[in-house]
Amino acid sequence: MKTETSIQGLSASLQTARAARKVIGFVATMGNLHEGHINLVREARRLCDVVVVSIFVNPTQFGPNEDFDNYPRTLEQDSHLLAEAECDILFAPSVEQMYGSRPRLTNIRVEKITEDLCGLQRPGHFDGVALVVTKLLNIVQPTYAFFGEKDYQQLAVIRQFVQDLSIPVDIIGVPITRAADGLALSSRNGYLSEEQRNTAPIIYQLLQQAKAKLLQGVALDVVLNDVKQGLDQAGFVVDYVEARATNLLHVETFEQDVVLFVAAKLGNTRLIDNLMVKYSKSIG
Ligand code: PAF
Repeated sequence: MKTETSIQGLSASLQTARAARKVIGFVATMGNLHEGHINLVREARRLCDVVVVSIFVNPTQFGPNEDFDNYPRTLEQDSHLLAEAECDILFAPSVEQMYGSRPRLTNIRVEKITEDLCGLQRPGHFDGVALVVTKLLNIVQPTYAFFGEKDYQQLAVIRQFVQDLSIPVDIIGVPITRAADGLALSSRNGYLSEEQRNTAPIIYQLLQQAKAKLLQGVALDVVLNDVKQGLDQAGFVVDYVEARATNLLHVETFEQDVVLFVAAKLGNTRLIDNLMVKYSKSIG
């Protein structure tokens, strides 16, 4: 595996692949990699000739009260994992390399769907994501880019600006990777104490129960409320429990496929998860 830290170096490394019309797959990460990231890399490996993974802790997606400086940086360990997963090129630029020293005057803002769910608690977060992902897609120019469905809203935002800006890439959503007890894998799980780690899988258990109830015909608002109560009782501080259509539009009832969303804190650690429930006319 090659490591490139400059845009020029990466372009040079990709020149032969581009000339030979190889299929380039791209996975964007902020490092501190876990099995969820590695599954994105495996999916890229399966579908593409050349796999590029970026590790860049992007300052523009952190709010003023979010800890950019203390975000875990584990480049050496991440490099080993990527080499094992047969990544071809690791792109690990500095902030200076990505943003330069001149003031930036351009923003990329996706409306509406960024102002809901996680966007309410993290104003500006998705603007930062949209900006850095646009830059990375322009730099790498992949055929396919792979993003996890765990960050469902992020994936929807990326799909939206890729379409709106006619960026020539196919965005592939990859299903959530879960631990054996159902907890969605996340870099943040590392912040949980042993006790909190034992409590955390309740999120997925409640989502599954919610799905079963919806399929039995229980009303959507009742189901969402049960999830909220279950989380409260288990000691979570609930940020939101919501249902949306798959395109993130609001829904009042379960009369189409819906995605159930949870964001809740255990101590200082904010966990998110989601589960899609497919609608069929025979429900209830
Ligand atoms: O999901 C992430 O790790 C980040 O938001 C991303 C997509 C790498 C952009 O910095």
